[in-house]
This record gives sequence, C-alpha cells and structure tokens, in this order.
Amino acid sequence: MTQTIFSGIQPSGSLTIGNYLGAMKQFPELQDDYDSYFCIVDYHAITVPQDRLKLRERTRSLAALYLACGIDPEKSTLFIQSEVPAHAELSWMLQCVASIGELERMTQFKDKSEGKESVTAGLLTYPPLMAADILLYGTDLVPVGDDQKQHLELTRNLAERFNNRYNNIFNIPDIRIQEVGARVMSLQNPTKKMSKSDDNHKATIFMLDELKQIEKKIKSAVTDSEGIIEYDEENKPGITNLLNIYASFAEKPVEDIVTENQGKGYGDFKQDLAELVQGELEAIQNRYYDLYESDELDDILDHGREKADRVASKMLNKAKKAMGIGRVHLKK
Ligand code: TYM
Repeated sequence: MTQTIFSGIQPSGSLTIGNYLGAMKQFPELQDDYDSYFCIVDYHAITVPQDRLKLRERTRSLAALYLACGIDPEKSTLFIQSEVPAHAELSWMLQCVASIGELERMTQFKDKSEGKESVTAGLLTYPPLMAADILLYGTDLVPVGDDQKQHLELTRNLAERFNNRYNNIFNIPDIRIQEVGARVMSLQNPTKKMSKSDDNHKATIFMLDELKQIEKKIKSAVTDSEGIIEYDEENKPGITNLLNIYASFAEKPVEDIVTENQGKGYGDFKQDLAELVQGELEAIQNRYYDLYESDELDDILDHGREKADRVASKMLNKAKKAMGIGRVHLKK
C-alpha cells in the first residue's frame, strides 16, 4: 500500500532558505512515491500575534510558493489548515490526552515564552494541534527540519497514549530529516538557527529576496579569519554553515564540496555560493509571481480542501467514537 506523508509550514513570515532546505526542497521528489499532504498551518501562526491582512497575504503567498517549488496538485494535496475543521477538533481532543507538564517541556515553547510577560495558551497547546495535523491522515512519514524532532516525539507519544487508552486508530508516524540542510544556521550568528523572525535581516536569506540582496547577504556572512575552507562545526561554524548550504543547493555530499573548493579563498567561495542560490531561487521566484496572481491557485486550494476534508473527517469520526464523543442513538 502507498505510504502517506504530511508536512506543514506556518504562514507567519516570509519563508527562509532554512524552511526551503530543511523541508520544502525535499517535498517534490517525495510526492512521486507517497500519498502526500502539504499544509499551510495558519492556526499555528496565530499562537503569536499576527497582522490580519498580512496573515491572509502570507497564507496565499505560501500556497504559491509550495507550487513554485514543485508541488504538483495532480500528485499532492495542498490545503489550508483552518479550512479543514477536523484539525481544530482533534486538536482539542488531543489536548485532553496531553499533560501540561509535557507541553511545558517543549523547547520551542520555552524559547518563545522566555522573558515574555504573557504568552497565549495556544503557544502551549501548539503541539497537540501539530499532532492532530499529522494523525488525521494516517501519516507514515513527516519530512521536517531538525527543530521539529521534539514535536514529532510528542506526536508519537500522544498517538500511542490515545491508542492504548481508547482504541487503536492512529498510525504512529516516523520523522524524516535531511542529512544536510536539516539545520540551516544564521548568517550572522552561525551558532543560532536561521529564523523567519530574526531582527537582523542580514542573518536570513528569504526565498523572495531580490537577487542582489542574496549576494550581499552571503558576502557579509560571518566566517573566521583563517581563510581555510574546512568542515568543522565546533571551531568554524560560519564556513561550515555555508558549506552545508552549498551542498544542499547543489544536492551533493558536503565532503565533495569541501574537496572541490580546496585552496579557494572565502571571497571566491561566497561568490560561487551566491550564484548557485540566486540561480535556484530566481526560477522559483518567476513561477511564484505568476501563481500568486492566478485563479488556478484558488482552484487548487479548493480542491485540496475537499480531498483533505474527506480523509480527515473519517479519522475524526473514529476518534470521536473511540472517546465517546456524541450521543448514543436509541432509535433503531
Ligand atoms: P515552521 O513553519 O517553523 O518551519 C517549516 C519547516 O521548515 C523547517 N525549518 C528549518 N529547517 C532547517 N533549518 C532551519 N533554520 C529551519 N527553520 C525551519 C522546519 O523544521 C519545518 O519543517 N510546527 C511546524 C509546522 C507544522 C508541521 C505540522 C510540520 C505544523 N503542523 C505537521 C509537520 C507536520 C513549524 O513551526 O514549522
């Protein structure tokens, strides 16, 4: 039987090459072999404050970007989380299976709530919503970046607990992480993850950055004063990050990139890297702008919603039945 994959991305800001290399770039090749669901997780985005107009734009923008990166609506189901009510419903049920303690232990929750006077309850209950996303489709495999490991582990725990406590209805999903590209680091502080929300814009390459901008950011990426191209995460995190980015874009083992660039100066290496990144992103950007404006995009999302809703509703009903949600029918 064909296996199922599910992955989601938040429309919470402009997408970065971290999102691309850690997640999106691998999706098109997977859709040939798996029953594939790709989701724009807008309910996750509102766990922190969002501008309502920008959020709507970003939701459409992310849909266009998925397609521009090679998602084929004939092969994959592309849809918006909030348009399929089963996600919010199952999320509630899974919140009643999760404990506050395990949610408070999530490092993403700790990072995002640290130093804040007040955080939303949704930030804490974010992982059960992610678990609902995944479990509704009987997912076998979840392709994500390294930062989602803990959430995936929790998803597996919640599914197992539900299965043991109520009825064995959920498939237990596995995580799929890239060898290179699973953790793209900031260009300005290479010990920190590249993030959509970094205040320093030089730290992040956005998918829709102008090409000139991309070159500038790569050229000003922090490295070291040695000037020797070597892979060494501990002592040379800057150049190591650039090597990883290079290998991911070139789809080659990182060792090959190190060998090919032996003896080269950082300046030349950065120039080559900039051209490689510009080339790939330019093609995506050209497709993106056409798609964003098109009616076809709405048709694809409508179609995606219908398919996702059909599959998710079935699983939701099983979960409700297992938990005893709904009334007993006395009439024959
Ligand atoms: P999000 O929107 O933060 O990120 C989307 C994807 O990009 C990956 N990623 C990275 N990979 C490598 N290096 C980086 N610097 C980097 N930054 C982000 C993330 O690992 C992710 O794969 N909780 C999820 C969204 C989600 C989801 C799901 C994912 C909701 N439901 C169900 C999978 C299945 C998130 O916040 O991703």
